Amino acid sequence: MDPAELKAIVRTIPDFPKPGILFRDITTLIAHGRGFAATIDRLVDRALMADASAVAGIEARGFIFGAAVAARLGIGFIPLRKPGKLPMPTIGVDYQLEYGEARLELDPGAVEDGEKVLLMDDLLATGGTALAAVDLLRQAGARVHHALFVIDLHELKGGHLLREEGLDVQAIMQFDGE
Ligand code: PRP
Ligand code: MG
Repeated sequence: MDPAELKAIVRTIPDFPKPGILFRDITTLIAHGRGFAATIDRLVDRALMADASAVAGIEARGFIFGAAVAARLGIGFIPLRKPGKLPMPTIGVDYQLEYGEARLELDPGAVEDGEKVLLMDDLLATGGTALAAVDLLRQAGARVHHALFVIDLHELKGGHLLREEGLDVQAIMQFDGE
């Protein structure tokens, strides 16, 4: 399946979670067996270029794609978690969302000092979440030069923000405001 076919399987919900927002819903993509498999195939192709020794995925939707890619590459998966979930001492980064505040936490023992980590998430919007994730991984001693997404909401310029941090940013599909 090519990117246009995959894009067509993503469901668009108007006015969620707020009026005026077009929500790109991956529920329909991951429910579609061939579509999900083709999405992972394409992510794996891009992920290989990062030459990483682990994939870090952002809770929750980033786990779905990041874990599948890590398993296909035969490398480890590092979960970046929402607050209060990890049993060992954590490091955390607070960040701003469009509406309100959020925090990601990491067990620093999950990262080898100096290892090359590929950051993955389902969707890049403003880039605030991914930027916090990069900050957290770097605090834990990772080298992070690549970020990979299923969807890039191009108009929100998250890619721009991440490239300013020196990251190579890839996504397998882009949506504008259509
Ligand atoms: C969504 C999405 C990305 C993030 C992108 O996650 O899955 O992680 O927002 O937004 P940004 O680029 O503007 O920071 P969300 O926190 O809504 O929750 P979920 O993954 O747990 O569903
Ligand atoms: Mg998310």
